[in-house]
Amino acid sequence: MYETPCIGLSDQEPAALIDFYPFTNLNALKVKEIIQKIKHGKSPSEICDKPLDNIRFTPANNRTIFFAPYQRGQAISKLNELGPDGVIEQLRISELSGRGGAFFPTGKKWEACRSFKDSPKFIICNADEGEPGTFKDRVLLNNQPGSVLEGMIIAGFTVGAAYGIIYLRGEYQWLVEKLEQEIDAFRALGLLGNNAGGIKDFNFDIRIEIGAGAYVCGEETALLESMEGKRGEPRTKWFYPVEKGYLQLPTVVNNVETFASVARLLSLGTFEYLKRGMPGSPGTKLISLSGDCKLPGIYEIEWGMTVAELLDLCGAEDPYFIQVSGPSGECISVKEKYRRISMLDLLAQKDIRCGGSFMIFNSSRDIVDILINFSEFFKHESCGACTPCRAGNFIIERKLERLQNGLADANDLKELKSWSSIMKATSRCGLGKTASNSVIQSLEKFEDYFATRFAGTDNSIYRKFDHHAAITQYEHYKP
Ligand SMILES: Cc1cc2nc3c(=O)[nH]c(=O)nc-3n(C[C@H](O)[C@H](O)[C@H](O)COP(=O)(O)O)c2cc1C
Ligand code: SF4
Repeated sequence: MYETPCIGLSDQEPAALIDFYPFTNLNALKVKEIIQKIKHGKSPSEICDKPLDNIRFTPANNRTIFFAPYQRGQAISKLNELGPDGVIEQLRISELSGRGGAFFPTGKKWEACRSFKDSPKFIICNADEGEPGTFKDRVLLNNQPGSVLEGMIIAGFTVGAAYGIIYLRGEYQWLVEKLEQEIDAFRALGLLGNNAGGIKDFNFDIRIEIGAGAYVCGEETALLESMEGKRGEPRTKWFYPVEKGYLQLPTVVNNVETFASVARLLSLGTFEYLKRGMPGSPGTKLISLSGDCKLPGIYEIEWGMTVAELLDLCGAEDPYFIQVSGPSGECISVKEKYRRISMLDLLAQKDIRCGGSFMIFNSSRDIVDILINFSEFFKHESCGACTPCRAGNFIIERKLERLQNGLADANDLKELKSWSSIMKATSRCGLGKTASNSVIQSLEKFEDYFATRFAGTDNSIYRKFDHHAAITQYEHYKP
């Protein structure tokens, strides 16, 4: 048995996987029962839970994009008329940008891949979803697998690809059966295979590849390395995947939500799509919401909703510290609750990845504990290929431990800041560049809180010694 920061079930924690089968909403009694059943010969597959989708909110008056009634092949039926250039034009008009974190314009990515002539080309659906607190892709794959497949097929048609691959997070293996069934249904309807969707000479099929549980493999080039059977390390960026991706051939890598958005927006039409959201940030966004609130789950919000409205919807209890888009994202204080969730405000900051999750912590939570939890995660998940990330994450964790023990002083604060800038400037991939975000932001945003945590202003003798913690350790010592 081992602990892991997140298995993509933050809306029904405590949760566990046994042989990759999910068990949710655990408590002591339930765990005891599970162990009893296994001892009596039941297999985890027989007794596991069926995780709920927990879709808590969709925009009223039929304005939902992702959860409207779905009909297989509706968007594909428009491809003959649109042609590849027409699809790219629709994506440009709709301003659709990638939902995996970086908001890269999807139309631009597809157009670039289309321009390269090497073949075959590949479409990869990034379903690695490893950012702690994020589970929207899990819900889409379980609830709307058809729209994800359809988005991949549209991508294949647009760029001229022959193969689609879903790179599925190892912890989501329990979704394979459902996805395979949907792929079979698409094949049976002629939406996959030769002349897919009835389009002459468009031959396209999809398979699933299971990841092996490394967060960094969600980074698109590490993902490609892992798919090629190599160690999952990000590539140095001589080429973008659209030019030399999987097997050094042109490849589109998009997030699950991006593919589902494409299928939905082609069905709906860009005119209708643009009526949702706000100018400069059209459409809707899926938010994975968890933590200290009454209704954890998935919220489909129109871009532009305020943090306050979202906190109200989920019944947040005494919110204080909110981590937006996972540990690599942005932390905000409840004082910022009137900020808008959009690509122009809350999710607009450069160098912050924005997968769309909200982790709510109330005022009883210790910010330093939260930050140590994040830094342990990054230290563990760093692939170690570059020194600033490998050493920096270790050093940040040590500094936070000093802070926790009342030993940190002004020098530690200075070093935290300087390591953060070194990591941002010199790390090879987004993991190292974003790992220190929450630490640095919380030092600025929760100044009052940290003022009580830093002892002294220099390397002086004023450092605090926590007698209580020292005695507690002694009392718990077992020879
Ligand atoms: C450390 C790290 C982890 C990432 N994990 C994911 C992930 O789980 N899913 C995802 O779609 N993108 C992830 N990304 C972003 C991908 O590299 C890539 O930008 C994205 O899949 C592109 O799809 P999009 O254009 O649809 O957003 C990650 C990036 C980094 C640096
Ligand atoms: S930044 Fe970290 S995760 Fe990324 S390549 Fe360097 S060591 Fe690996």
